Amino acid sequence: MDKMWAGRFSKETDSGVNAFNSSISFDGRMYRNDIAGSIAHATMLGEAGIISKEDSAAIIKGLQSILADIEIGRLDLDMNAEDIHMFIEAELTKRLGDVGKRLHTSRSRNDQVAVDIRLYLRTEIEQIKNLLKKLITVLCDTAEKHSDTIMPGYTHLQRAQPITFGHHLMAYAQMFLRDIGRLDDTNKRMNVCPLGSGALAGTTYPIDRMLTAELLGFSEPMANSLDGVSDRDFCIELASAISTIMMHLSRFSEEIILWCSWEFKFIELDDAFATGSSIMPQKKNPDVAELVRGKAARVFGDNITLLAMMKGLPLAYNKDMQEDKEAIFDAIDNVKLCISTFTPMLETMTVNKQNMRNAAARGFINATDCADYLVKKGMPFRDAYKITGGLVAECIEKNTTLEELPLECYKAKTDLFDNGVYEAINLDNCVKCRTSYGGPAPESVLAQVKYVRERL
Ligand code: ARG
Repeated sequence: MDKMWAGRFSKETDSGVNAFNSSISFDGRMYRNDIAGSIAHATMLGEAGIISKEDSAAIIKGLQSILADIEIGRLDLDMNAEDIHMFIEAELTKRLGDVGKRLHTSRSRNDQVAVDIRLYLRTEIEQIKNLLKKLITVLCDTAEKHSDTIMPGYTHLQRAQPITFGHHLMAYAQMFLRDIGRLDDTNKRMNVCPLGSGALAGTTYPIDRMLTAELLGFSEPMANSLDGVSDRDFCIELASAISTIMMHLSRFSEEIILWCSWEFKFIELDDAFATGSSIMPQKKNPDVAELVRGKAARVFGDNITLLAMMKGLPLAYNKDMQEDKEAIFDAIDNVKLCISTFTPMLETMTVNKQNMRNAAARGFINATDCADYLVKKGMPFRDAYKITGGLVAECIEKNTTLEELPLECYKAKTDLFDNGVYEAINLDNCVKCRTSYGGPAPESVLAQVKYVRERL
């Protein structure tokens, strides 16, 4: 088949080079966006009088019929084509003859591909946001159910202070809410139109870039044609936003993995979301969570791929940039896959309140509350801290808990102690009293749930 750019060459392209150069196997997924961009371009060419109104209308009709044929499976993408742009244009010309050859007037594949990716990513961002919203909804629902389920909060993976399971979950809700914000920010900067930048230097035709930008739903045309064709910041920003989502999912996965171990047993995954071992009959493994954690690594890799690909490129377009698509598509595909598997896993897990409670009862996580009790009686915090440390050491020595330690042991340290201390270190009270804004008290968890739902 003759190349569209064959005029200058006296030899056929080497078949290995053809295969090496071709991107249709991965950019084929942008066919809808390519057609949308071409329809806007053809509309503008007609409006501006660059081609006749009849030609413009015929091209638009031709493009619409190609789209319909691809959608119903009547037209397959030709994997021997150089890329999706060449394929659609060649198909149009096959259908319309000379009229089809007018579509590419005052346009280059360089501004064409730049517009296609932006259009494609815009839809994907919406989908990722919707998946995140579903995930956050499940978090809110579960947190509401567990607003008063006591568990130990950790630092250094050591039991630290009492919190509620609902509070723990709502921390993740906040992270995913920020992730939605990051996607919105990326979209804002991405949503400007490179079409009309031409190959790099604009065009001598009287094109109307305002019109194409508007037709395609962009906020405005990009202001510099060199930048228009060589900017891939939006891919990097999106990959970075997706990396952050994956980092959050990965941390969450790590906790899920810990929580369903025999050591914790805070939760149990539904059988439909766990896997077995080929040799150990007793095993029930959290493969989904582990795979999400693993996939975070490859998405970070995609992010780095994009940065490294761009770092040495002189202006304007360079073929290196064809590599942008596999990286950003991989990040998108994987984050969508991860969220949509993670959410139902979360939704179906069983929470073992009693085990959380038992863990909270061991580890002296009410020691701060014991010290605070003395502070409320007038003792400076540092002194109260020291006395409580002594009490904890005594408990460890006697193999008991602060709750079970007799009052005379307390009194031996300071007369400020009376029976009220048991009230103060009672786990339910410890949590109930942590009503500071953003704290773990049941009423605060419910307020957090309300806050997040309002912002969804
Ligand atoms: N397939 C190419 C890409 O994805 C399209 C742009 C080609 N432009 C060019 N000057 N060779 O980047």
